[in-house]
Amino acid sequence: MMAPLERPLVDAAFLSDPYPTYRALRETGPLHWSEEFFGGAWLLTRHADIEAVLRDPRYSAQRTGGWLNDLEAERGELTRFQRLFSRALLFLDAPEHGRVRGLMQAAFRPEAVARLRPRIEQIADTLLDAIDPAEPFDVIAQLARPLPVRVIALLLGIDPSESAELMRWSDDLAAFIGAPQPTQTLALRAQASVLALTDYFQQHLHRSHDAHPDALMTVLRQARERGALKDDAELLAQCAMLLFAGHETTRNLLGNGLYALLTHPEQWQCLLDDPDRASGAVRELLRYDSPVQYSGRRVATALTLHGQHLARGDLVLLLIGSANRDPARHARPEQLDILRPDPGALAFGSGAHACLGAALTRVEAEVVLRHLLARWPRMRVAQATPRWMANPAYRGLQSLMLQAH
Ligand code: HEM
Repeated sequence: MMAPLERPLVDAAFLSDPYPTYRALRETGPLHWSEEFFGGAWLLTRHADIEAVLRDPRYSAQRTGGWLNDLEAERGELTRFQRLFSRALLFLDAPEHGRVRGLMQAAFRPEAVARLRPRIEQIADTLLDAIDPAEPFDVIAQLARPLPVRVIALLLGIDPSESAELMRWSDDLAAFIGAPQPTQTLALRAQASVLALTDYFQQHLHRSHDAHPDALMTVLRQARERGALKDDAELLAQCAMLLFAGHETTRNLLGNGLYALLTHPEQWQCLLDDPDRASGAVRELLRYDSPVQYSGRRVATALTLHGQHLARGDLVLLLIGSANRDPARHARPEQLDILRPDPGALAFGSGAHACLGAALTRVEAEVVLRHLLARWPRMRVAQATPRWMANPAYRGLQSLMLQAH
């Protein structure tokens, strides 16, 4: 058995900058055992290995059971949460995964995303109009947090004015799912939020008849009516997952991305010189400081990896944040370079579970960048050291004070 890592990985220094730790791990070896995550997990550090695991059916996406292992005593209370969430696309294996993903794909088609673009522009304008550019402002609270949830509301075909509660529920889910050692308090809060969310979506389901035929709630309701989704719980699990999968991640892309750009003024200038560089910039920002730092898989068939026996049921954490800085895959990986030819990073995963919302996310981030460049070209960070959230999986800033002029 490989010796477990000695010192805890996740401390304040790691949360503010995990990259030196990833580098040290990568240089020591491709695979490590850590008892810090969910009572014990394998950590995989290199791009090639992580991409291979994401594409390998010997690893299962069903991993929600592990969340509750340390909370065995409370299991009775938490099973409703676990039972519902385990049916979300993100945690399904073939053939169920293909069935559910196939149903949802229509709402993420390029035409469907293009149709949302003018509405995304409007949301960005409304949020930016509300900011007083004469004063420092928190770009997370005023833009990065509210924008993605309003876009998801659009995508689903629900009322964006109710987004405050949706954001709170989604934050509770992220705090629990992203915790390496979930506490009972986090778990119970997440359970309460998931139940509130499903009640909310259940009510909307019956109102979604007027929404656009491409709206995801409509697509899912129709799938349920013709029996392609098995029951209401299966449908609601997808809605809860979409909110969580799309909200935290995009908020963090906007926050991490703006912070990276503005602390590298030559990169911001490079974008100002030609705003058509925005889409390449978004790709590079996703690589440079990934909103999803790791995902997980369970070993479905015992196997050997880098000479190490992995037993059936073992949890493997795929350190996407490390893969995206792997020098074997990316030249000058520690350098932010928005002109980098397509860096092919793993920020959106790979294989069967690759992010469904990737095209939508790129549009959102590109719209935000273009609006900010046009409005406030001299924007800068107005805070010495911004604080990062205590969430090693979903890396993001708690707040980021900016000065527009
Ligand atoms: C910066 C933004 C985003 C990032 C970094 C991101 C990242 C990811 C990653 C890494 C995965 C794969 C996880 C795995 O294989 O374990 C994933 C899956 C997924 N994402 Fe995203 N995501 C983002 C935005 C969105 C948005 C806006 C939506 C939808 C509104 C979305 C919906 C999904 C869904 C439904 C899946 C599951 C796909 C499947 O299991 O087949 N994501 N995302």
